[in-house]
Amino acid sequence: MAAPITDLSTADRFWADADRHLVRYAGAGDFTREIIDHAAGSYLFTESGRRILDFTSGQMSAILGHSHPEIVETVRRQIGSLDHLFSGMLSRPVVDLARRLAGTLPSPLEKALLLTTGAESNEAAIRMAKLVTGKHEIVSFARSWHGMTQAAANATYSAGRKGYGPTAPGNFAIPAPNSYRPDFLTPEGELDWRRQLDFGFEMIDAQSVGSLAACIVEPVLSSGGIIEPPAGYFAALQEKCRERGMLLILDEAQTGLCRTGNWYAFERDGVVPDILTLSKTLGAGLPLAAVITSAEIEQEAHDRGYLFFTTHVADPLVAAVGNTVLDVLTRDRLDERATELGAFLRRGLDDLAARHPVVGDIRGRGLLVGVELVVDRATKRSSDELGALVTRRCLELGLHMNIVQLPGMGGVFRIAPPLTATEDELAEGLAVLDQAIGDSSARWS
Ligand SMILES: Cc1ncc(COP(=O)(O)O)c(C=O)c1O
Repeated sequence: MAAPITDLSTADRFWADADRHLVRYAGAGDFTREIIDHAAGSYLFTESGRRILDFTSGQMSAILGHSHPEIVETVRRQIGSLDHLFSGMLSRPVVDLARRLAGTLPSPLEKALLLTTGAESNEAAIRMAKLVTGKHEIVSFARSWHGMTQAAANATYSAGRKGYGPTAPGNFAIPAPNSYRPDFLTPEGELDWRRQLDFGFEMIDAQSVGSLAACIVEPVLSSGGIIEPPAGYFAALQEKCRERGMLLILDEAQTGLCRTGNWYAFERDGVVPDILTLSKTLGAGLPLAAVITSAEIEQEAHDRGYLFFTTHVADPLVAAVGNTVLDVLTRDRLDERATELGAFLRRGLDDLAARHPVVGDIRGRGLLVGVELVVDRATKRSSDELGALVTRRCLELGLHMNIVQLPGMGGVFRIAPPLTATEDELAEGLAVLDQAIGDSSARWS
């Protein structure tokens, strides 16, 4: 047994214990050096008395802010009456949530499987797609993130592929359509996404052993750097899937439930996926996820003996939370709110871009916004160091920001405040970002 650490201040002891006893799970990243004591609304409060504005909604999940009074009340009530069940048993919160989710979605999406995390929902969706198609090959974007469990990680290309042995045979990537850094060009110098998509599927067809089951993609790639595929892209992608007998799985872990100004990001594109996965935002910070599909696909899966029996499938506690999330989103019209706040944020960021040449690009939709930093707007050259400096300075000044740093891409801030944030809070965040970029560019140059 490890000897206890003595003679340290309580904060030093906390970090000594953390350093000694916690597995570091963030790759090259480190823990944020703050001890978070509590959180409320758009703010985190540290043990040392600092207040930090949360521009990432926790892990892009807390769409109603932290400790929303109605969520707190639901958890208190539900845990006191019905918490968890044998996985083959049902309760009212589960069936209510499944029915209500179907009511927010276009036909034929009407059958839900309620789970806990994003990776798990994608695991279940891919498993279902393989079973109903009788095939095994899975296509996703080269900048994707679908989670850390086996099938989800096999379809994740933005990070974490190296060092863990072979992925399942039959996982393929297509290029992500990044309009800011186009690889296939029209004569006007813009992204030629049709040619890029054709090329991607030419490569897939060349590699496939004739067993293409599904394509799994995010409607806005978040961990990949807030890449928003152009209008028309998803309809064309769905066509590619149809031609090959593949199912289209949309992963709306971050974009679902009003974040982008629509209830679901795919609404913009006029496509309906064969399978939709929801997670982060559905529980607004609590572990709830869903796989939603048509009655036809569900029937086929069932006929073939679909098995996804887990400990926390159909748990009443988090299902009750999901119902409250739907209540608040609907009553407070948070889809419209995301559009309004997104426009406010965008104006503020455009103003920053006009004054700071390191702001290379601003993109995204609603309250899911990306800001790409570059050290030279003409060449779009990036610097990991600059992104890290700005992130650190923001935290010193009381703003939590997340930056994505991927090879060949600059640092991209992912800005996703709670949908319940006020304009004053967004303005406060913009002011901090302004100062942090100014201070960091001065130090860096
Ligand atoms: C689009 C997307 N899908 C899936 C996941 C995985 O979710 P989880 O971490 O809950 O397993 C994430 C997490 O960042 C995500 O962004």
